[in-house]
Amino acid sequence: MALPANFLDELRARVPIAGVIGRTVKLTRSGRETKGCCPFHGEKTPSFYVYDDHFHCFGCGEHGDVITFVMKSTGAGFMEAVESLAQEAGLEVPKPSPQAAAAEQRRASISEVLEAAGKVFQKFLYEPQGKPALDYLRGRGLSDETIRKFGLGWSGEGRGVLAAALRGQGIKPEQLIEAGLMKQGDHGPVDMFFSRVMFPITDRRGSLISFGGRIMGDGQPKYVNGPETAVFSKRRSLYGLNLARDAVRKGAALIVVEGYMDVIALAQGGFGGAVAPLGTALTEEHLAEIWRLSPEPVICFDGDAAGRRAALKTVDLALTALAPDRSLKFLNLPEKDDPDSLIKREGPAAFKARLDSAKPISAALYDMLAEGGARTTPEARAAFRQRLIEVANRIPDKNLAAEYRSMLLERFFAERRGNKPGAPKKPVPFVRDTTPPDGAGAQSKRGRLMLAMLLSHPALIHDVEEAFARVALPPAYAKIRDALHSFAAEAKTLDTDSLFTHLSHLGLAEEARLIEALAAEDFRPEPDASLAQVAETWWSWYILMDFSIEMLRAQRDEQEQFWKVHQDDAAAWSRLIKYNELLRQAMTGEYGAADP
Ligand code: UTP
Ligand code: MN
Repeated sequence: MALPANFLDELRARVPIAGVIGRTVKLTRSGRETKGCCPFHGEKTPSFYVYDDHFHCFGCGEHGDVITFVMKSTGAGFMEAVESLAQEAGLEVPKPSPQAAAAEQRRASISEVLEAAGKVFQKFLYEPQGKPALDYLRGRGLSDETIRKFGLGWSGEGRGVLAAALRGQGIKPEQLIEAGLMKQGDHGPVDMFFSRVMFPITDRRGSLISFGGRIMGDGQPKYVNGPETAVFSKRRSLYGLNLARDAVRKGAALIVVEGYMDVIALAQGGFGGAVAPLGTALTEEHLAEIWRLSPEPVICFDGDAAGRRAALKTVDLALTALAPDRSLKFLNLPEKDDPDSLIKREGPAAFKARLDSAKPISAALYDMLAEGGARTTPEARAAFRQRLIEVANRIPDKNLAAEYRSMLLERFFAERRGNKPGAPKKPVPFVRDTTPPDGAGAQSKRGRLMLAMLLSHPALIHDVEEAFARVALPPAYAKIRDALHSFAAEAKTLDTDSLFTHLSHLGLAEEARLIEALAAEDFRPEPDASLAQVAETWWSWYILMDFSIEMLRAQRDEQEQFWKVHQDDAAAWSRLIKYNELLRQAMTGEYGAADP
């Protein structure tokens, strides 16, 4: 009985094959390989491999998809296996109907028509009529091997040449319309593609589903893609997917580019894992498809404004689907380049280097949000910070969202410290606090250091006051802080002499000198330290302080709870240990080096 192919695809996608096989076969995973001892013949060393959508035994040659596996291992019939897998996946098996059977028949016939057309286009390319097209492709740097591997062809000049070439095989123009190769004109069917270089488009298994055609030279439109048909859906299809799938299994990076020629040029340059959407933006379905192949595909769009916009849209789309094992990287290209032009100009080694430096989506996200210039007012900074938090909160996985929040905010603070990405990083006069972990002492010492830095570098006050105001300080120190803030609000120039004049008017100069003297034991900025470096140190103390206050609170709560309620709870115990460790790190300044 015929089930629609898209139902079976959906079923295969929903039931991970390794999960099903893993119930009866002990599977081990190393790198990209999952293998075990074959259940279909006796063996002691594993030669039974499980891939993302099929299994293969190199010992006895058994292979198939998840449905075949259930059939072979349980003796179930096809429908029985489908029913049981569908039940697991929460899918309803479509009722057999004459319409469904007819639709399946139509799809099969479209595939045959496309295969026949593909052969004709390829044949044309090597005939005299295809000579200019072949020269065009060679002129764009494609080797004969590449041209053959991608099945490139020549459409002919139109006016029914394709229909004429296929008539002998009993293929009628109506079938060509159904397959998206002709369209209904005013005076009967006309060719969809004429005078174009032809690019066959396949599904992930390599069956033809449509074609794209490029004009030679500068005419418009540059590319024509086949229309949506019973077998071709642009939302779901990716050019090059079947070849990329093989390459990715052998270790190639999965790269998403914009165009046909990018896919082909990268493949020829040794980057076989390239795919491209077909004249649409990347969709949710495309993302799902590439994540089946790789946990972190690289998005590498053109360097122009349209490419950057497309990347932004992709980040936006991916955000709500991110998970610890589903992420993206972004590779930005120079303004005038696409992957094709770049690899031609710079060569594969340089492209590899660029590929290795692709940004994780978290970094790309920050850069995109930060675009649009400096945020110099507190209002603008607060709005930006709020935006970072909101964006992170769109990630459905709670732990991942929390990681994004802290990463984005860390960069936010780093940026305020003038630590612009890309700027050379000088060693910072960072102070390592070795105070034993008695919370209060360490906190007031840090407060003292932060005050001392501002006393010697009053120019920093404006930059930090908003954050500093939130720090809990002992009353004597809080007074000095208020004085610093009132000074910054009134003073014309923020220099140390005017600051101390201001402090002595308030009767606080002596206290301030004492703070400086005490702090000098731990912090003496190098004489030539720039203001930015001192700011950097200040902010690292601030982050530490912020962190340890929170930590202290959490640790105390944990400890109290532990002794009061769950002394026999192993999880509570290990939580407490974790907090103590974090707190120790915060106190000794290791926080930041380790994962909080
Ligand atoms: P590009 O214009 O970047 O094409 O469009 P390209 O692949 O780099 O082609 P060359 O190097 O100039 O030959 C990127 C993709 O957008 C779609 C096609 O899928 C193309 O590969 N497109 C572009 C169209 O569908 N129609 C067009 O007219 C242009
Ligand atoms: Mn391009």
